[in-house]
Amino acid sequence: MSDPSERPSESMPGPDNNGLKPLSNADDYSLPNTNNNNDLSRIMSRAGIALSNGFPLDDDEDDEGVDEDYVAVDQDDANEFPYWLRRPPTHHRTKLDELHPFVQLLSVSNVEDCAEVENAFPENERCSRDKFVYRLSRCPELSLGLFTLPIIGEGQPKPRATLVGHIIATRTSEPLVTDRAMCLPDNWRNERWSFQHGHAVGHEEGGSTIAIHSLAVLPDHQGKQVGSTLLKSYIHRIREAQIADRIAIIAHDHLIPFYESFGFVSHGASKCQFGGGGWVDLVLELGNEQ
Ligand SMILES: CC(C)(COP(=O)(O)OP(=O)(O)OC[C@H]1O[C@@H](n2cnc3c(N)ncnc32)[C@H](O)[C@@H]1OP(=O)(O)O)[C@@H](O)C(=O)NCCC(=O)NCCS
Repeated sequence: MSDPSERPSESMPGPDNNGLKPLSNADDYSLPNTNNNNDLSRIMSRAGIALSNGFPLDDDEDDEGVDEDYVAVDQDDANEFPYWLRRPPTHHRTKLDELHPFVQLLSVSNVEDCAEVENAFPENERCSRDKFVYRLSRCPELSLGLFTLPIIGEGQPKPRATLVGHIIATRTSEPLVTDRAMCLPDNWRNERWSFQHGHAVGHEEGGSTIAIHSLAVLPDHQGKQVGSTLLKSYIHRIREAQIADRIAIIAHDHLIPFYESFGFVSHGASKCQFGGGGWVDLVLELGNEQ
C-alpha cells in the first residue's frame, strides 16, 4: 500500500473537489462569499433555515418563523452548498436512553434475573427455572441480555445491573423451532447429546438453526424499544459471527409484523404445542450457507 500522503492531491477528497467537509473543521472552512451572500440566504430561506450573521440559528430560535409549506431545493443549489445543508440530526432523549442500556451475554448466574423477566409471558408460556439453568449452562453464547444501571452519586456503591430484557436460544438441526428443541433433557448434566425415540432433543451442538425460545421484556419497561433494540443487536451479533444459517422463533399472530420488520419470514402455523400451541413459525435466513 502506498502512503496516502504521497498520492496526487487531486485524488484526495476535500472541500474543493467534493464539497464535503468534516464538521470538526468548520472553523477552517471559508464559505464562499458569506459577508454578502445572496445565494446562501436564498437557499436557506427556501429550505426554511434562518440565518444570523451568515450562520444557521438553532431550531428553538427559529421555530416560529418556519414556513409550513413544502420547499424544494434545486439540485444545483444543493451541490453548491452541501456543507450547510448537512445539519446534524436532532436527537430527542427517548425512554430507552433513560435506561442507559447495555447488552451483554448472559450466564447461569443470571437465572434468577431471567426468571423475573420471563414473568412477561402468561404462566403457561414461561420457560421454567430449570430450563434457564440448562440453556445458560449449555449455550450461554446464544443468549443476550439488555441491562440498565441507575446513575449514582460520587462515592456511592455501584448497584447490580438490572436485567430488563433477554433472548434465550439453543441450536437445532431442524429448520424451524420444534417441541423437541424446546425439551429439557433429563441427562443433560452427564451427556453431551440427548435423544428421545431416536430424535435429538434439547440443544444440538452444531445445529445450523438458532432456535429462540424466549424474547421477553420486563412489563414495566415494555414499549420503550427494549425488545427491538435487543433483537436487532442479537441478529447483528449472530450474523457477524457467521455461526448459523438462520434464526427461528415461534410467535403469536399479533407479533408477526414485529418480527417481519427484522426480516423474519412467516412459515405459517407451527406444529409446536408448547404452552397450548397456536404459534406461527418465523425464520430469518442469514445467508451464511456454505
Ligand atoms: C414482545 C416484546 C418482546 C416487545 O418488546 P418491547 O420492548 O415491548 O417492544 P418495543 O418497544 O421494542 O416495540 C417495537 C415494536 O414492536 C411492536 N410490538 C411490541 N409489542 C407488541 C405487542 N404486544 N403486540 C403487537 N406489536 C407489538 C410494535 O410495533 C412496536 O412498535 P411501536 O413502538 O412503534 O409501537 C415485549 O412486549 C414482551 O416481552 N412481551 C411479552 C412476551 C412476548 O410475547 N414475547 C414474544 C415472544 S414471541
